[in-house]
Amino acid sequence: MKYVFGNWKMYLNYEETVSLANTLAGATLPESDLTLAVFPLSIATKPVVDLFANTKFGVGSQNVSWTPKGAYTGAVSALIYSELGCKYALVGHSERRHVFGETDEAVRRKIEACLQNGLTPVVCIGETKAERDSGGREERLIAQIESAFAGLNMNGNEIIVAYEPVWAIGTGDACDVEEAAKVHAFVGAQIEKTIGRSLPILYGGSVNAKNVLSYLSEDNIAGVLVGNASAKADTFVPLIDAASEISK
Ligand code: PGA
Repeated sequence: MKYVFGNWKMYLNYEETVSLANTLAGATLPESDLTLAVFPLSIATKPVVDLFANTKFGVGSQNVSWTPKGAYTGAVSALIYSELGCKYALVGHSERRHVFGETDEAVRRKIEACLQNGLTPVVCIGETKAERDSGGREERLIAQIESAFAGLNMNGNEIIVAYEPVWAIGTGDACDVEEAAKVHAFVGAQIEKTIGRSLPILYGGSVNAKNVLSYLSEDNIAGVLVGNASAKADTFVPLIDAASEISK
């Protein structure tokens, strides 16, 4: 089983989001044991959950607030997404960290909120180009992993990790499969060291219909987190078709 997750970011407005979900819900997809999910625009969560009822697609939020309810202007909590029918939540996506200034500490609180509310956090980690070029990649990944997971009580819940090198996101400059597999081995070992068990690790960064199968063919790449190519039916359906080859 491999994961194919689509992060629709803020590419689509409400109507476009519902329309894409509608198209995907009606699409003929090959038989496969892929686990599929999309992360839609927050305000369209409910219609997307409804459209994907009885389909292979799960739904997740792109972000969560750790406070459950109350005087928190603009926030939407893990609890509220869970009540709406979400299964997953992206936590610490590179754009949240780098554009909106989310810290490792905030990421940790969001992971805990997901676990307390029955959402599977998809914890995104990755180094910038400067960190990679200066040899600081491993140090950055260790810091993100330790801050996210050290001493964490998983309460029997699932956690998924996504390795997304910042320089590969939205750039068309996907990480070479060999390099990605090496980093996945490193991340996997660090996670084992930190929590004493393994977690599924997805790759993200310029994944498309052409390169998806090469990532999924690596044993230590449990799936892919796709941005741009997931936000249109005519790129996402071929990507899922290509990914389905892995289970044949
Ligand atoms: P991309 O985005 O596929 O457009 O590079 C990946 C992501 O941000 O999760």
